Amino acid sequence: MSDHPARSGPPSSPGIDNELGRVASRPSRSPYETLSPTSEQRAIVLYVDDDRANLLAFRAMAEPQYEVVTARSGEDALKLLGQLREVAVLIADQRMPGMSGIDLCERVRAVHPDIVRMLVTAYSDLTAAIAAINRGHVSRYLHKPWNADELMATLRDAVERYRLSITVQRMQLRISETERMYALGVLTASIGHELRTPLSVVNTNLRYARRAVTELLAPGKSPLPESARSSLRELEAALVDADDGAQRLIEVVEGISLSARSEPVAQQPVDLAHVVRSVLRLIRSEAALHAQLTVDQTAAPQVIGSATRVGQVLLNLLLNALQALPPRPVTTNQVKVRLFEEKGRAVIEVSDNGTGIEQQHLARIFDPFFTTKRQGTGLGLAISRQIIEEMGGEIAVASDLGVGTRFTVSWPILQSAR
Ligand SMILES: Nc1ncnc2c1ncn2[C@@H]1O[C@H](COP(=O)(O)OP(=O)(O)OP(=O)(O)O)[C@@H](O)[C@H]1O
Ligand SMILES: [Mg+2]
Repeated sequence: MSDHPARSGPPSSPGIDNELGRVASRPSRSPYETLSPTSEQRAIVLYVDDDRANLLAFRAMAEPQYEVVTARSGEDALKLLGQLREVAVLIADQRMPGMSGIDLCERVRAVHPDIVRMLVTAYSDLTAAIAAINRGHVSRYLHKPWNADELMATLRDAVERYRLSITVQRMQLRISETERMYALGVLTASIGHELRTPLSVVNTNLRYARRAVTELLAPGKSPLPESARSSLRELEAALVDADDGAQRLIEVVEGISLSARSEPVAQQPVDLAHVVRSVLRLIRSEAALHAQLTVDQTAAPQVIGSATRVGQVLLNLLLNALQALPPRPVTTNQVKVRLFEEKGRAVIEVSDNGTGIEQQHLARIFDPFFTTKRQGTGLGLAISRQIIEEMGGEIAVASDLGVGTRFTVSWPILQSAR
């Protein structure tokens, strides 16, 4: 779960100017920071020039806005790029001993195609620079000596371009993940559907067999010898076990259809206690691997809406809670579900003592595609909020970093049964 990209290179690397080539140390990123580069993060700009004075001047100019990394040759720049991640822009002087700026850009393009590459060149090298642009190695060139305003404006565009291209890539990835999840959801729902009919046949016949055996054993009704009665009692016990098993299977199948996303929205009375039970049955064994899962139910309210959809919301909240738990002994991790009534409303609360949510992310967690997880689609909470609001309910969150998170879902009560 943890994601700590090694942005900071070693303090000194061979062949890299230690003073100028230093990589500003940054606090390690939290696993809960969004993976897409956001405008709050300073973009990394790599400036390559054999002239030390130019490097200093560039650093002084760009440092306030960008994280500046410098190198004095193409070879050093390539080494640095091997150590750094997520460099947004490369600016290379064309005339350097050894590798030229264009050659460097060409090599960088092959290995790090996302980095926006720019050339600083004297007028005498213009033809080569334009050819490099035409071949796609370089996105644009700047005249030397550069004009500070022009350079800063160009840098801004370049960083924006980098961010856009990364965002598009991430969105593409998420769309394909969403499609995969949708296909999985449809498959699971259809398996649940297929199982429902045969299961209810098994269930009905088991009940019938139990009733028949119980009747045969009823006092005074059966002229059976004691040996037959004892076999019947064993048969009865076996049928009770089989019936229990069938009940569990039915609940699992109900749980599967609760987790499927494709059913039409029903507007019916929903027994929240039943939904909580079904979802917990579905998730309990998986949850036990990560946390102590407790349920505290002080009411059995009904609300109006769709049980399937409420189940889906609860499942999303529970999965998020489990995913927020740090790797530590299972007994330390707590996930709690509470079902209660308060001020005429039915409330389901899901809380955990996991990592918590950073203040700056709190306002965004319900946005579609906002995720801090490598495998996340960022759709769980967005879909949940939509479902809750369609049912006339509300969803709220409270979180303390390092302490835990509590999601509260509430609806007007339709009917209350204690
Ligand atoms: N219980 C929680 N503790 C800490 N962070 C949470 C919790 N629930 C949600 N979050 C934060 O909210 C973000 C959005 O959650 P959401 O469920 O919408 O998407 P996701 O979990 O990232 O992806 P998906 O649900 O598709 O797997 C998460 O990535 C995470 O940063
Ligand atoms: Mg989620």
